Amino acid sequence: MHPHIILEGGMEYSLGNFDGKRVDYNFSKVLAYLDAKGRSMFGKNFEIHEEDKGTFFKLSNYFVRDLDGCRKLGMDPFKGILLSGPVGCGKTSMMKLIRHIVPHQRPYEIIPARNITFAFNHIGYKIIEDYGKGRFYCFDDLGVEPLGTYFGKDCNVLGEVLISRFELFQKTKICTHVTTNLNAEELEERYGKRVRSRMRQMFNLIAFENNTKDKRI
Ligand SMILES: Nc1ncnc2c1ncn2[C@@H]1O[C@H](COP(=O)(O)OP(=O)(O)O)[C@@H](O)[C@H]1O
Ligand SMILES: [Mg+2]
Repeated sequence: MHPHIILEGGMEYSLGNFDGKRVDYNFSKVLAYLDAKGRSMFGKNFEIHEEDKGTFFKLSNYFVRDLDGCRKLGMDPFKGILLSGPVGCGKTSMMKLIRHIVPHQRPYEIIPARNITFAFNHIGYKIIEDYGKGRFYCFDDLGVEPLGTYFGKDCNVLGEVLISRFELFQKTKICTHVTTNLNAEELEERYGKRVRSRMRQMFNLIAFENNTKDKRI
């Protein structure tokens, strides 16, 4: 088993040194792999932008479970990730890409927050229960989804789902990840104090630089 060797497009990428027990990841090698994998997933215009390297460094340390690195960067490796940044800066792409550096770990499913609301509108409260169960999720674009309604009753679906995920996190240590364009105040406005305080306990905040350019062409 060589968790640090990844095959991509006929090339073999080594992400660091493996002593038979643990991998000592080399960040410039991780970046070289992300660059190649990003191009194969998102097209030839994909590149690692200088201003995003700090964000990628944090995410890499977190996802390879570098406990020392996490501590130095102020992250708790046992919490999830809340990745924030302006529209088009590359949040969704990054969450799709970064999981490939750790093919030996159980992957998370990326689910658009609005899809969860739409499912709720059709199926009802069972959806909140289902997403509160023990799978790995990244809820994408939190805060852009509309309020849910089921049989005439309004429901802040993602707020309820996050509360279920918090309870799951407390019981089982299963993490949830999230991407969002909203800042802390906007999240609190959208989901209320109760959800916001739980979010603080269950997520590491990783933010793209505020001046990160929109990468949509
Ligand atoms: N590093 C990158 N280099 C070039 N294009 C990128 C990069 N990251 C994302 N993109 C492209 O930019 C667009 C927006 O990315 P996306 O991940 O959807 O942003 P966000 O989720 O932050 O709104 C997509 O078309 C994506 O393929
Ligand atoms: Mg997105």
